[in-house]
Amino acid sequence: MTLAIFFTGATGYIGGACLEHLLGDGSFQITALVRSADKAKKLGEVGVTTLVGSLDDTDTVTKAAAEADIVYHTADSDNYGAIEAILKGMKQRHERTGAVPILIHTSGTGVLADNAAGMYDTNVIYYDNDVDQMASLPPTAIHRNVDLEILAADAEGSIKSYIVLPSTIWGTLTGRLVDLGISNKHSIQIPAAIKASIGRGQGGVVGAGKSLWPHVEIHEAVADLFNLVLRAALDGTAPHGREGYFFGESGEYCLIDAARAYTKTLYELGKSKTAEPDPFTVEDAQKYFKGTFFFCLGSNSRARALRGRELGWKPVKTTDDFLKSLIATTRMLAEDSGKDGATEM
Ligand SMILES: NC(=O)c1ccc[n+]([C@@H]2O[C@H](COP(=O)([O-])OP(=O)(O)OC[C@H]3O[C@@H](n4cnc5c(N)ncnc54)[C@H](OP(=O)(O)O)[C@@H]3O)[C@@H](O)[C@H]2O)c1
Repeated sequence: MTLAIFFTGATGYIGGACLEHLLGDGSFQITALVRSADKAKKLGEVGVTTLVGSLDDTDTVTKAAAEADIVYHTADSDNYGAIEAILKGMKQRHERTGAVPILIHTSGTGVLADNAAGMYDTNVIYYDNDVDQMASLPPTAIHRNVDLEILAADAEGSIKSYIVLPSTIWGTLTGRLVDLGISNKHSIQIPAAIKASIGRGQGGVVGAGKSLWPHVEIHEAVADLFNLVLRAALDGTAPHGREGYFFGESGEYCLIDAARAYTKTLYELGKSKTAEPDPFTVEDAQKYFKGTFFFCLGSNSRARALRGRELGWKPVKTTDDFLKSLIATTRMLAEDSGKDGATEM
């Protein structure tokens, strides 16, 4: 039986990687919501049905979710109205058919972020298979208001939810959707710091850069983890709801090490006054960072991805690989640096 997927975020970094994988599988009928008519046309050429519109078109989103066996939501971890619209549609489908549709939702380990502002690290580590620890996350945490709505729908029985929480995703996305100019090939978190550094002409870091974050490489995060979770959801072997959290983590880094890697490269390219990062100022924070980027770049978010590994996920990329990858990422972003240094989460 061909399963119908309603997909969001096809033109994005995570979404492009996920969609590439689904297209390679060939067994899904995919409908993607995209804002660009031009990209919608290109997606049509690779076999994806498209709806041109935004997550804010809630009637469209609800209707599309009501027609899908699976909703695969990668566009925005924080759009509360969008998740309400998606859950409404999924509930309608459940009531109409009796089936329990699957939601694969993209959250992030930003939900674990503390207030360190780069000034200290922490011993607090979260384990995605520790149900009580995950349930203790405060409703005010980043992404949490959206995640809690999802868990409520799962508890009610109208959906089965699988929340994937990538950490700092790194690496350049490759594949057909990137080659066709459909999907974004760069990540957003460390690139936000690199773009801000280029903008101010000096490599920067939040505070003293002492905080710790997990990382995961894009192809391992998506081709392997998201896909494994979807497969296990379909055959009923993955835990769901309050047990269905899946961190994307293959190692951990200290923010100052990442900042040293991109600052050294920027210095060599003549884009940083010195080879050592110095702290972003309050003015830099306001000028170059939007959303929760600055806060996250100063926070600790320590995570261990045990659920995915229980399903057989075997990420092999190391922290050293991540830090080395920043050289190429920095070079690419420096080449594009005629544009505004600001970015948005
Ligand atoms: N990258 C990471 O390291 C990371 C880690 C953890 C969590 N996350 C979260 O995962 C989500 C996706 O991240 P990403 O790195 O894939 O970002 P991205 O490359 O910017 O992709 C976002 C995608 O969502 C689409 N989108 C955003 N708002 C939309 C709206 N209102 N209506 C329709 N489509 C919309 C964008 O479409 P357009 O092409 O039209 O802009 C794009 O396709 C974000 O919420 C991010 O915070 C990212």
